[in-house]
Amino acid sequence: MNKLTPQPGIMDIALYQGGAAHVEGVSNVIKLSSNENPYGPSPKAMAAVRDSASLLHRYPSTDHALLRAAIGEEHGLNPDQIICGVGSDEVLQFVVHAYAGPGDEVIYTEHGFSMYPILARMVGATPVQVDERDRNVDVDAILAACSDRTRVVFMANPANPTSTMLAEGEVARLADALPPQAILVLDGAYAEFVDDFDGGAALVAARSNLIMTRTFSKIYGLGGMRVGWGYAPQDIIDVLNRIRQPFNLSSTALLAAEAAVRDRDYVDHCRAENTRLRAWLAGELAEAGVPSDTSCTNFILARFADRDEAEACDAYLQSRGLIVRKVAGYGLPNALRITVGDDVACQRVAEAVRSFKAGQA
Ligand SMILES: Cc1ncc(COP(=O)(O)O)c(C=O)c1O
Repeated sequence: MNKLTPQPGIMDIALYQGGAAHVEGVSNVIKLSSNENPYGPSPKAMAAVRDSASLLHRYPSTDHALLRAAIGEEHGLNPDQIICGVGSDEVLQFVVHAYAGPGDEVIYTEHGFSMYPILARMVGATPVQVDERDRNVDVDAILAACSDRTRVVFMANPANPTSTMLAEGEVARLADALPPQAILVLDGAYAEFVDDFDGGAALVAARSNLIMTRTFSKIYGLGGMRVGWGYAPQDIIDVLNRIRQPFNLSSTALLAAEAAVRDRDYVDHCRAENTRLRAWLAGELAEAGVPSDTSCTNFILARFADRDEAEACDAYLQSRGLIVRKVAGYGLPNALRITVGDDVACQRVAEAVRSFKAGQA
C-alpha cells in the first residue's frame, strides 16, 4: 500500500469536466459545448503556426516579449504589466499559487467558473462560495463573505455560464471595499464579445489590488494552442513571474497568438457575427418558450421549465447531432449552455429546440 500523502485539499478536487465532442452513433455533429469560435483561428494565426515548424529545435522565448508587445499595442497597455500563461487557466493558477495557501479563503460566486474552487483546493486554501442574485454577481454578498482570511476573489465579467455582466461601477465598488490582503481577479475570458469593453483594464490601472485575465481560446479561436494573459500592477506581475516556468509557452503558441491579436479585422468580424447570431438565436429560443438572460458572451444560457425538461432537451439535441452543455454542476439544473455557432449551427439549434418544445406541448 502506497504511503504517499498528497497535500491538503488535493483529494477534494473533483476533476474538471470539459465539453463533450462526440455523440455515439450520430454523425454530422456540431459541438456547441465549449464556447469555441465557430470560424476557427485567423488565417494569419494558421500561417504563423505553419511557419513556426522550422523553429522547433529552438527553445521558445522566456519573457514572451514579442507577444506582450503585440498585446500591449492592440489593447493600449504597458507590456511590462502583462504576463502570459498556458491558457488564462495558468494565469489564474499563478494567482492562487502566489497569494493563497492552507488556512486562507478564496471567494467565488454561486454559478462561477468551475476552475475557481479547483484552484483554491490545489493550494490547500478553502473555497468560499457566495450566492448570486438572479444569476448576477452580487457585490454586497461578496463583501459580506470577506474575512481577514480572504486572499483571492474570483469573478468572471462577463460570466460563464450565466452570460451576465456586472457594470464597471459595481466592479470598482467591489475592488475598493475588499480587505487589504485580498486580490480581485477579473476574469475577462469573454470580454472581447462586448463592444467597446476594456475587460476592466482601466480599473486595474487605477488600483493596486486587481488583476485582469484574458484568453486566446474564445474569440481568437486558439483554444487548442493554450494561451492566455494577465494584466496587473507591476509588483503583482513581478510576483507571478517568479513562479512561472521559464518556457511555459511553446514558440508555436507564441507566434500564433501574436498573429491572432494583430489581426484586428478578423476579431471584429467574429465579434459582429457573434452579436448578430446571438440576438437571432436568443429571439428564436424565446419564441419557442425558452427564455434567457441578455447574453454578453458567445453563448446563451437557455432556461427550461425544470431539470427534467432541460435534460430531455439535451438528449433530443444530441440525437440531432447538437452537443450543448448541461450546467447542473454550476447550480443551474434547469438550464443548458449553448455556444453561438455559425449560421448553420444556429439554425439547427433553433429548429431542434422548436420541435422539441412542440413535442412537449
Ligand atoms: C470564465 C472562464 N475563465 C477562464 C477560462 C479558461 O480559458 P483558457 O482556455 O484561457 O484557459 C474559461 C474557459 O472556458 C472560462 O470560461
